Amino acid sequence: MKSPFFRFGLAFGAATLLTACAGHYQHEQEHVHYTPGLGEIMAQSAVRHAKLWFAGQAQNWELAAYEMDELHEGFEDAAKYHRTHKQIKQPIPELIAQNMDLPLAGLEQAIKDKNLQAFTRNYDNLTAGCNACHQATEFGFNRVTHPNFNPFANQAFGTSN
Ligand code: HEC
Repeated sequence: MKSPFFRFGLAFGAATLLTACAGHYQHEQEHVHYTPGLGEIMAQSAVRHAKLWFAGQAQNWELAAYEMDELHEGFEDAAKYHRTHKQIKQPIPELIAQNMDLPLAGLEQAIKDKNLQAFTRNYDNLTAGCNACHQATEFGFNRVTHPNFNPFANQAFGTSN
C-alpha cells in the first residue's frame, strides 16, 4: 500500500522535472536569438588570425585553410549582423570588402600553392587590412600584429608532432 507521502513525492518529483524542462527550453530559446557583438566576433577573429600564423609557419596547409574558412565565416557574420556599428559612417559590409577581400584571396592562393614566402607576405597584407579598417572606424588604437610567441599550449600546429 502506497503511503500518501509516496504519492506526494511522485507528484512533487514530476512537477520539479517539468519545471526543469521548461527552464531548459526557455534557455534554448534564448540561444536562438543570441547574436554575437562585433567586438566578440573580432576577438574570435584575432584568435583565428594568430592560429593562421602558426599553421602557416609550420606549413600545415590544411589547418591554415581551416583557419581561413573560420575567418571568412566571422566576417560574413560581422557583415550580416552588424551592417552598421556605433558612430561608424561607412557600412560594415563595405568596409570588410574593401579591406579584407584582396588580402584573404592572396592568402588563399598562397595556401593552395603551399608557398611559405607568399603566405608570410600575404599574411602581412591581411594584418595591414585589419589595421586599415580599425583606422577607418576610429578604432586605430587597436593594433594587430603577427604573433611573436605561441600562447596555444594545447594545440600542435605542425603536421606530425
Ligand atoms: C569593418 C572593419 C574591420 C575589419 C576588417 C577588422 N576589424 Fe577588428 N574591429 C573593428 C571594430 C569597429 C572594432 C570595435 C568593435 C566594438 O565596438 O566592440 C574591432 C575590434 C577588434 C578587436 C578588439 C576586440 C577585443 O576584444 O580585443 C580585435 C582584437 C580586432 N578587432 C582584430 C581584428 C583582426 C585580427 C582583423 C583582421 C583579421 C580585424 N580585426 C578586422 C573593425 C574591423
